[in-house]
Amino acid sequence: MAAARLWRRARALTVTSAAFGLLACSDQAPSTLRPGGPGARRVEGFWWQLFWVSAVVCVIVVIGVVLVIVRRRRAGDVSHREPTMFVVVAGVVVPFLVLAIFYGLSLRDTLRLARPDAAANPPLTIEVIGHQWWWEVRYPPGTGAVVANEIHIPVGTDVRLQLRTDDVLHSFWVPQLMPKTDMIAGRTNTTWVRADNPGTYRGQCAEYCGMQHGHMAFVVIAQPRDEFDAWLKWAGRDAAVPVAGPQQRGLNVFKQTGCAACHSIRGTGAIGGVGPDLTTIGDRWSIGAGTVPNDSDHLRQWIANPQDLKPGNAMPPQPVAPADMDDLIAYLRSLKPTGQGAP
Ligand code: CUA
Repeated sequence: MAAARLWRRARALTVTSAAFGLLACSDQAPSTLRPGGPGARRVEGFWWQLFWVSAVVCVIVVIGVVLVIVRRRRAGDVSHREPTMFVVVAGVVVPFLVLAIFYGLSLRDTLRLARPDAAANPPLTIEVIGHQWWWEVRYPPGTGAVVANEIHIPVGTDVRLQLRTDDVLHSFWVPQLMPKTDMIAGRTNTTWVRADNPGTYRGQCAEYCGMQHGHMAFVVIAQPRDEFDAWLKWAGRDAAVPVAGPQQRGLNVFKQTGCAACHSIRGTGAIGGVGPDLTTIGDRWSIGAGTVPNDSDHLRQWIANPQDLKPGNAMPPQPVAPADMDDLIAYLRSLKPTGQGAP
């Protein structure tokens, strides 16, 4: 019985490991080993150096252990003296050298990551603020754009990110573009991001920050320069204020049910600063920092009871009458480039 159980467990573990292995190789996996920019490429290079040196050391150690076992068996003698010189060289000097070299290489890479050679002066600087459990993304003063859980950048450009936290420790990580950088209370950390090709790159909080740490995701959307400029222009504008129809009624619902106490929509008088700015909500990739897709059904569920979808988050359930909810959804969904807020 025990053997059968052990066998089942071993089989389940093998299948799970194989699944993770396959996932890491798949196109969807946001893996550092499939870099999309110079930051991640540097990390990938260091990873392979560590991997190959570790592999060589492992093979040498295994051969040494086998040789010792075979020789002692043959000799039948376990009482001879240890070769002191061999222990000092193989056990102290060589490991010290290997670790010192890797320490030096990691310092070199850290310094190079701290300031890209090709960065424009002054660079485009975006401020990212970690909250439990979402990301506030602020574009430079003057652009007016404030979004959440997604960072649009121009492709092929070094973009400076200034990272802060509003509460606990978070860590900002886009595996395909850049290494992790912690967000530490009371200080601003600077890092850089650059994407070689247009695309959407998944990011994730990489430091345990409470119950919904796993639902603290974001995306970096790298766009050709003209597309990025058009997006930034749109995202920085005030939302158009609808004057009739369901969208106008929806805006009233937004203001009257208390949404506006926590959220802002620029240009409407809603200036709450607790939750994400919703000026561009119709255009976002997800609701709840990657918790559910951003569509009408999920938005409706989220507003009715956010605690069902993401327990522990700061937003309380909103008792909105069904007819009002339809108008509210129509209004919020219109806040995108092709909707009411179109430039
Ligand atoms: Cu934020 Cu984990």
